[in-house]
Amino acid sequence: MNKAKFITFEGVDGAGKSTHLAWFADALRKRGKEVLVTREPGGTPLGECLRDILLNQPMHAETEALLMFAARLEHIEQVIKPALQRGVWVVSDRFSDASFAYQGGGRGVKVEKLEQLECWVHENFQPDLTLLFDVPVEVARQRLSKNTTLDRFEQEKDSFFEKVRQAYLDRCKKNPDRFALINAAKTPEEVKEDLEKEILSL
Ligand code: TMP
Repeated sequence: MNKAKFITFEGVDGAGKSTHLAWFADALRKRGKEVLVTREPGGTPLGECLRDILLNQPMHAETEALLMFAARLEHIEQVIKPALQRGVWVVSDRFSDASFAYQGGGRGVKVEKLEQLECWVHENFQPDLTLLFDVPVEVARQRLSKNTTLDRFEQEKDSFFEKVRQAYLDRCKKNPDRFALINAAKTPEEVKEDLEKEILSL
């Protein structure tokens, strides 16, 4: 556990990743790590403006992909890489896998186009570990129904989320060294035990 690591949390809306992210970051801090918690889209002043647009304005699927990666470039250069260089661990609520899952799987943007953007924005730079919170879509929907307001993505149909979930699982299968699959349908206590194991593996 010497070099600062970049860890990302992924999953469909309602999978419960954000609830566990704060706990995970604290667990790292208790082990003496300095930790920066951030999110996508967002994480920089420009990224947060783009987040507001992305979550609220209707737009073409490819515009959505371009804006996600534009916000990401700013996030990597202004926040993520400088923190890692200072020895600070970075835990991000979502990163490029979300673009492959939502814009690729959900909206049908061609994977080759997303790969080109990925190569442009962060060639040779990937998270050290990606925790994929996986739950059946109906469980995620039930959890989301407790929210009073839903953004443009959260308002999508179940069929959209099925495609997003599948795209995440495909990406997990293709990158087994980087991904850890978390069964987020378990109780919060059980999920924490699984996360604890992931921390030990770091
Ligand atoms: P959040 O609710 O987890 O903060 O994420 C905001 C939404 O943005 C979520 O519905 C997923 C979506 N999203 C994408 O569609 N593509 C991306 O690349 C990212 C980072 C998020």
